[in-house]
Amino acid sequence: MRVITKIDELKKVISEYRNNGKSIGLVPTMGALHNGHISLVKRCLQENECCVVSIFVNPTQFNDKNDLKHYPRTPKEDCELLESVGCNIVFAPEVEEMYPEEDTRVFNLGSVANVMEGKFRPGHFNGVAQIVSKLFYAVEPDKAYFGEKDFQQIAVIRAMERQINTGVEIIDVPIVRENDGLAMSSRNRRLTETQRKNAPKIWETLSKSYTFAQSHSVEETINFVVDSLNSIPEFKVEYYEIVNAESLQPITNWDSNVRAVGCIAVFCGEIRLIDNISYCVK
Ligand code: PAF
Repeated sequence: MRVITKIDELKKVISEYRNNGKSIGLVPTMGALHNGHISLVKRCLQENECCVVSIFVNPTQFNDKNDLKHYPRTPKEDCELLESVGCNIVFAPEVEEMYPEEDTRVFNLGSVANVMEGKFRPGHFNGVAQIVSKLFYAVEPDKAYFGEKDFQQIAVIRAMERQINTGVEIIDVPIVRENDGLAMSSRNRRLTETQRKNAPKIWETLSKSYTFAQSHSVEETINFVVDSLNSIPEFKVEYYEIVNAESLQPITNWDSNVRAVGCIAVFCGEIRLIDNISYCVK
């Protein structure tokens, strides 16, 4: 496994693979890797002859500077884990390498970027588009892999790709959960013992809401989720929205022809966790 920190060297090494007819897959990450990331890497390795994993805590997507400061960084463990699963290239640049000057690009990401995370984290998705586009230009992968925990992020990256048109195929990979149901996230390691004990209730409540939804309206289902989670000490739901899975716009009625997804952001103390569930209501 090669660990590379400079774009020039990355391009050179990747061109050797490409000149030998090898397909290239990219898994963009911010490090602090867990089994959710590893499922992306494994899928990438199945579908490509060269798997590039980027590790870069991207400052432009953090609207909360405190979150950026405390974002977990575990480069040594990350590289060991990636080597153990057969990753070919780790690209781990410094901030100056990715942003030698301020990135003033503003992407037109359309309506999928204005709701939920877009509403509560202004500038976040533009920052995601900035870094992912830079990674697409640097790696020129055939395919890039993203986890469905960040459901809205995938829609936004597809919108960005339509705009920049690099031809990268965006692949979404299902959420990986802990045994107790908590969606894997690098932020989970920042939870206190009590918060960690309560955090599986997010998925437990979403799962219960699936059954609840079969005999209740969209609004009642939203209230069920929000009220259940807000009753847990230290938990505060920032939003729970049930949206059309394609447009990401809120739905008001169940419609069996429209795939509905419930997307949640919850503060557990200071730590903000997200998750989602697909509904099928007849
Ligand atoms: O999902 C993430 O970890 C990040 O948003 C990404 C896609 C690596 C861009 O920094």
